[in-house]
Amino acid sequence: LLKVFLSSLAISLLLLVSACGTSEKTTTGSSDKPASGETQHKKLRIVTDATYAPMESLDGDKIVGFDADILDAVMKAAGYDYELVNVGWDPVFVEVQGKTADAGISSITINKKRQMTYDFSLPYFESINKILVPKDSSIQRGADLKGKTVAVQNGTTGQEIAEKVLGKDSQHIKKFESNVLAIMELLKGGANAVVADNAVVEEYAKNNPDKNLKVITDPSFSSEFYGIMLPKGSKLKVDLDKAIKQIIDDGTYTKIYKNTFGTEPNIDALKK
Ligand code: ARG
Repeated sequence: LLKVFLSSLAISLLLLVSACGTSEKTTTGSSDKPASGETQHKKLRIVTDATYAPMESLDGDKIVGFDADILDAVMKAAGYDYELVNVGWDPVFVEVQGKTADAGISSITINKKRQMTYDFSLPYFESINKILVPKDSSIQRGADLKGKTVAVQNGTTGQEIAEKVLGKDSQHIKKFESNVLAIMELLKGGANAVVADNAVVEEYAKNNPDKNLKVITDPSFSSEFYGIMLPKGSKLKVDLDKAIKQIIDDGTYTKIYKNTFGTEPNIDALKK
């Protein structure tokens, strides 16, 4: 009980601190001109957790990746000026809910639970969770995670999948602030598997052949769609949805997709 009290105290403090910290930022007038030449909008603050290559990661101090490119195209099409800020995964949710950020883009899966608190743009990417394991692992499907230790990024759909197999309060689910830390745990032998989004685990296994990892696909995991996450009732939704449709229809989306993944996107899946 004390633990629950302390953690809710910590959350309230965090909300308070982030609310104070950003009130100053939102009132500061921006002198940057929107790319399109429109001047009616203030500069938007968009937050992310840039530890999720190839979707969002840091290259020096620049945020790069599929989401960064999509956001840029969407903002150009919608005529908004913006800054993309790397705040970390949990703070993305705190900031968007507290409206200290105008939106979050961070490979965020649109789901019922989140839709109770947030609004989402139209989907812009289809994803599925996969299992990252050492090459010699006996794990062949999600159900095999039972009895194993699984590392996940805290508060992700990967965690939900692990909880479905191992039980919600299982001591064998290790939760980390970032997916990078979850993978580190696997590498040092503190976990038998990581559950995370396919693009991310596939990229990691491919780029790090010396780590001897493989990616397991479980066809029973359901496909997910990413959206840009907005405060409930945000007026941005109309403009962002229009811009997403536009970049899909004019081929910009396909260009960015091919540039990141080297394959054709399944546009029809997004439109369903
Ligand atoms: N798609 C998953 C989710 O929404 C994981 C996203 C994690 N994103 C990140 N930038 N770390 O729960």
